[in-house]
Amino acid sequence: MIFDSHAHYDDESFNEDRDELLNLILPQKGVTGIINCASDFESIAKTIELSEKYPFLYAALGIHPECAARLPENWFEVLKEGLKREKTVALGEIGLDYYWEDSCPRDIQKEVFIKQMELAKELDIPVIIHDRDAHGDTLEILKKYKPKGVVHCFSGSVEMAREVIKLGMYIGMGGVVTFKNARHSVEVMKEIPLEKLLLETDAPYLSPVPMRGKRNDSSLIPYAAAKIGELRGLSATEILEISRNNVKELFGI
Ligand code: NI
Repeated sequence: MIFDSHAHYDDESFNEDRDELLNLILPQKGVTGIINCASDFESIAKTIELSEKYPFLYAALGIHPECAARLPENWFEVLKEGLKREKTVALGEIGLDYYWEDSCPRDIQKEVFIKQMELAKELDIPVIIHDRDAHGDTLEILKKYKPKGVVHCFSGSVEMAREVIKLGMYIGMGGVVTFKNARHSVEVMKEIPLEKLLLETDAPYLSPVPMRGKRNDSSLIPYAAAKIGELRGLSATEILEISRNNVKELFGI
């Protein structure tokens, strides 16, 4: 009973076998739900299309910080329309990425992020937050807007996790927790209340050990679930079930 709270099946690495995976292979392997997150402007339309085609796939629509510098003039209207669709469950992924600030300067990232945070408030829709090397500024904006939502692929400290949870938000975790150098993620997974955990892949990226470096997909979530279960004295199945309930609760699915 796998629910993947964050994946990118519109990515070109799925061009060869996307339909086979989503129609056949993933359901056979126990995947019962997926949230596909748009990243750039083009993937908004692609994500909507996928959500119309596959009953168990839901849409999250938003502009990733890395792409915030190259947007058409009508991006905001297109996004807003998409968010009103029945199968759109979140605004995301949005946030700050100072690792990629060469692709998009910080001030533009912030401007586009804040505009989308205000839209989420207006439409009362949960957000999916991307934060890479930008913990301080991300947290500041989250504290100001207090959105419903999740910080996906959480890479902050235990202290930051506590702050995020205090805001009522969820912590997204995937393959990274299985990595050898995942000290922060392991500490965070030992500490957080499990009712705030969302499992995710970020497929096609961040495959768990022992598949690290290969293309990721939602059927590989049990590796992360097993690792978190080990840290918490629970089975992988129990962790999968807790996360699935949390996903449904947050996104109203
Ligand atoms: Ni992502």
